[in-house]
Amino acid sequence: MAWSLGAGLDGRVVLVTGAAGGIGREVVAGLVAAGAQVVAVDLHRPALDAALDAPELATARRIAADLADIGAHAQLIAAAQESGPLYGLVHCAAVLRRRAQVADITEDDWDAQVDVNLKGTFFLCRAAADAMRTAGHGGRVVTFSSQGWWTGGYGGSVVYATTKGGVVSMTRGLARAYGPDGITVNAVAPGQARTSMLLDDLDERVLATMTEQTPLGRIAEPAEVAAAAVFLVSSHASFITGTTLNVSGGFLMY
Ligand SMILES: NC(=O)c1ccc[n+]([C@@H]2O[C@H](COP(=O)([O-])OP(=O)(O)OC[C@H]3O[C@@H](n4cnc5c(N)ncnc54)[C@H](O)[C@@H]3O)[C@@H](O)[C@H]2O)c1
Repeated sequence: MAWSLGAGLDGRVVLVTGAAGGIGREVVAGLVAAGAQVVAVDLHRPALDAALDAPELATARRIAADLADIGAHAQLIAAAQESGPLYGLVHCAAVLRRRAQVADITEDDWDAQVDVNLKGTFFLCRAAADAMRTAGHGGRVVTFSSQGWWTGGYGGSVVYATTKGGVVSMTRGLARAYGPDGITVNAVAPGQARTSMLLDDLDERVLATMTEQTPLGRIAEPAEVAAAAVFLVSSHASFITGTTLNVSGGFLMY
């Protein structure tokens, strides 16, 4: 084994969703630096181009897709495989709709978050893992949970937290299903990271309280969370599956 962070990633095709987002962008940067062939996915091409507008990220292919459209997943996997057999999926895409009062949550709020965070995650992970299984060379699936899977969510995020709890269970179940094919399935559970998902519409007092309760005394930079995903895709994580990796600065300890 080569002792570099990106061990095992040179030339591997890895699909990264939510790649125009704060953490997804840094996952793309980490994987490109490790030598992977990255296929970056997000809702809109202009946002992808803006997020990945750096000379060192020019090799990352960009595909616009709405992951709530389950019927389009097969086409997305096929498009990714134009770069070669799929080895990895790092699935960062998610939505959070904050509602201060539980009474204010609408059915549309529920559906919007469940469709992307839970339903979309299941069908995309399955499509990706099935492609890896067919290719026959093992693989890596990394999902994204949240500390909300454990706390139930702060700042009006109970539906989001519910989906992220589901992601933990799903990750464990898929790890059992795909382990015999040499495909690992793990989740990253970030604490507070400096992205628009965290900071948009969040009451400053809630953020201050969470930061006070974090032993490292600050929120994470997106790259500090992305590093955990790059690790889980690398060969250094070859015997880790079904885990939920807590990247919270000690906000929670498990
Ligand atoms: N930032 C945090 O503090 C934090 C904390 C816990 C968990 N997370 C999780 O980390 C992951 C990355 O979050 P982030 O902070 O980078 O968020 P972000 O909002 O910056 O990025 C999310 C990206 O997902 C994309 N996306 C949303 N719906 C999509 C769809 N239907 N199809 C395709 N793309 C879609 C968005 O366009 C966006 O670019 C998410 O799963 C999030 O739940 C983040």
